[in-house]
Amino acid sequence: THCILLGAPVDEGQRRPGCLMGPAAYRVAGLVKTLEALGHSVEDRGDVVPAAPGQEICDNPAVHHLPEIIGWTKALRDATSAALADGMPIILGGDHSLALGSVAGVASHAARLGRPQFVIWLDAHSDFHSIQTTTSGNLHGTPMAYAIGRPGFAPFPDFPAPIPGENICMFGIRSVDPAELAAMQNSDVTVNDMRVLDEQGIAAPLRSFLDRVQAANGLLHVSLDVDFLDPSIAPAVGTTVPGGTTFREAHLVMELLHESGLVSSLDLVELNPFLDERGRTAKLMVDLVGSLMGRKVFDRPTRSY
Ligand code: ARG
Ligand code: MN
Ligand code: MN
Ligand code: MN
Repeated sequence: THCILLGAPVDEGQRRPGCLMGPAAYRVAGLVKTLEALGHSVEDRGDVVPAAPGQEICDNPAVHHLPEIIGWTKALRDATSAALADGMPIILGGDHSLALGSVAGVASHAARLGRPQFVIWLDAHSDFHSIQTTTSGNLHGTPMAYAIGRPGFAPFPDFPAPIPGENICMFGIRSVDPAELAAMQNSDVTVNDMRVLDEQGIAAPLRSFLDRVQAANGLLHVSLDVDFLDPSIAPAVGTTVPGGTTFREAHLVMELLHESGLVSSLDLVELNPFLDERGRTAKLMVDLVGSLMGRKVFDRPTRSY
């Protein structure tokens, strides 16, 4: 695979400064070497430059940094969709508001190809607020609602080719606000919350989603939030939620995604290196990318998707 790294030092989608150091931390933690050791070629396109902020306002007074995030959204949409023409974009965040742009980019690319776009959201949170319903005003809590085409996103640019709810899988969620829950229940999004994973494990729910992606000849975007992981193994994130996935569960997710052969783009989000302990969270995230990109202990015949 030709991997294209896009740095997205977005920090304005939440209130704890530090995510802007994420792209540098991934580079320091050895992402390029990890990918090359697996036989991939790597092209680091450096950090994306956001479009100049305008004067946009909205009537929810809680929302902050709206013009800055709109600037990031436009630049990351264009950079991601351009990268997809040449390889597999890996977007190095940056807080999760970067996915307003990256997911818009993958959706417009899929529409150009005439193929359906799917998204798996690996996160403690559903990030399903519109800019009208967010009470924190942190725009990192909104990208999935934008992607599905929920109303209430003016003055954002219209989302290109909104992604049908049935093409979206939430995986690992365990912290959902009331307005998000109401909107999700009103949609066809697949919700594999922690209750489902505790009962059924990782493999069965994930394979059933991957089967649908394959049957539809879909493209799959993976959005990996650090808080998908348990805080005990991944402390470097501003929004820790107890009860996250373990080291082994997270690697299994990555291995199954790799074996499916369906993944076409990846976000790494919410790493805040200022909160890390000697780089351990950054290194774990790089390690997980290794599993997603084909590292395995033992080569065995895989399930045919
Ligand atoms: N639902 C909360 C909010 O809207 C938390 C969002 C956390 N999102 C994240 N990408 N970590 O503020
Ligand atoms: Mn500011
Ligand atoms: Mn998130
Ligand atoms: Mn989260």
